[in-house]
Amino acid sequence: MDAGQKVEDAKMTDYTTTISNTLTALKINTKTATNAEITETIQGKRFSVYEIKLNESFVLTKAKRSNLAEQVGFAIGKPDAVRVNAVAGKEYTIGIEIPNDPTPEDNEKKIRSNTSFIVGEDIRKKSTIADITEMPHLLVGGTTGSGKSVFINAIITTILKKSSYKEVQFLMIDPKVTELTPYEGIPHLLCPVVTETHKAIASLNWAAEEMDRRYNLIKNHGRNIEEYNATSGDPMSKIIIIIDEFADLMMTANKGRNKLDADDNGLESLVARIAQKGRAAGMHLIVATQYPKADIITGVIKANLPSRVAFSMPAKVNSNVILGAAGAEALLGKGDMLFKPIGGRIERLQGLYVSDDDVEGIVSEAKTGSTQYDKGLLEALENEKKQVVETMTEEYRLTISARKEILKRYGIRLTHEQMWQLAPIGGGSPIIYDDMYLKTGFCQGTLFCRPVSQGMGDPSGGNVEGYERVKPLGA
Ligand SMILES: Nc1ncnc2c1ncn2[C@@H]1O[C@H](COP(=O)(O)OP(=O)(O)OP(=O)(O)O)[C@@H](O)[C@H]1O
Ligand SMILES: [Mg+2]
Repeated sequence: MDAGQKVEDAKMTDYTTTISNTLTALKINTKTATNAEITETIQGKRFSVYEIKLNESFVLTKAKRSNLAEQVGFAIGKPDAVRVNAVAGKEYTIGIEIPNDPTPEDNEKKIRSNTSFIVGEDIRKKSTIADITEMPHLLVGGTTGSGKSVFINAIITTILKKSSYKEVQFLMIDPKVTELTPYEGIPHLLCPVVTETHKAIASLNWAAEEMDRRYNLIKNHGRNIEEYNATSGDPMSKIIIIIDEFADLMMTANKGRNKLDADDNGLESLVARIAQKGRAAGMHLIVATQYPKADIITGVIKANLPSRVAFSMPAKVNSNVILGAAGAEALLGKGDMLFKPIGGRIERLQGLYVSDDDVEGIVSEAKTGSTQYDKGLLEALENEKKQVVETMTEEYRLTISARKEILKRYGIRLTHEQMWQLAPIGGGSPIIYDDMYLKTGFCQGTLFCRPVSQGMGDPSGGNVEGYERVKPLGA
């Protein structure tokens, strides 16, 4: 049916009667005074409008005050989905806007998509299907053992069954090491499963760069990956970035954070950047955490991951972090979830159960014997330590203790040159860095000592501009 066409189908007649009854029940008098009358019905592509001519004595606020929208929504079984509006260009007319049910073709299309999956089943065993490209990013929260990893496995295995690595690729980040490592070796992986937190951040940096690269390619062919793939002759894959335990990354990022600049968390802005521009570039995030607290799932993170799944949680406050509403504290665990798609209502579902054996079976089917890693990403991970040092050199605001913490976490041993680069900027001595690793016990006070024989100090013994004076210990 064409958009805007007048219709008389069964579903609409149903609603017509219900709306009429509701108007009568609310004592909203229409033109014919006794019988509530719908003057016109228009079916749009996504919603339909039922227009009602009211008595000239009717006061519009009465329709609002009587909660007509809520009452109609309640009556037709579409709570919170109905809107009531005065119709422009028509006298004394209000329009009741009701969303259309998805057509069988819509459902068919959704099922066929190579990025769709079954989120779960409701109590009547009706499946809810979602497409990651429409979500377009998903936040998953739940206490330990509540079903997050099983749910993520269900998504991955479904997509693996439907898609080749040319269509969908994954960047899997698994700081807990056990959750996603079974996928090691499938051709769909952009790099081996990332288990170290610092490498995870490096891989997300790569993803942000990849997104920019894709934007540059796409702009000559259209506005998004779909248009690019349809016309360029060289289609790009969709990339799904999965982080199974976001808290670990967030904590690492917070450790290196400058106290003076508390609003600047690099990881947050990185995730936000990928999320904001990712959809058009075919890049989607799935972020899971067992710590649904406001300091892990910050406002920035939440605002950028619009579809949500909440598994069982300890308290209302945690449920609120994920869903913006209470409820998850009453869930039963083991896949019992509240699903809130972007722009949709919260729905209680039971997630599909995918066992470790199922995963193993699907992984061995998906394996082709060779991996298809992205060279640029592998290189980025390789160069990651170098980058950390460079960033530290540029990031003059970091305190010495923050720098030390970063070096320790990353297991980085600086070269003498690097120490000298960092020293004047950090406001301390290179010996501080050296001391951490060599346990030389040099550094105390403001004058730091360094053997001139190592060629690192000013041989004349004087101060070099910007550097602190160095001389051998005890000299
Ligand atoms: N959809 C489900 N149907 C049935 N059982 C489930 C379902 N999801 C999870 N379970 C059960 O709960 C167990 C724990 O699930 P899962 O490993 O997904 O938890 P998790 O939320 O990832 O926990 P953690 O935060 O500790 O990683 C599973 O081993 C399984 O026995
Ligand atoms: Mg898990």
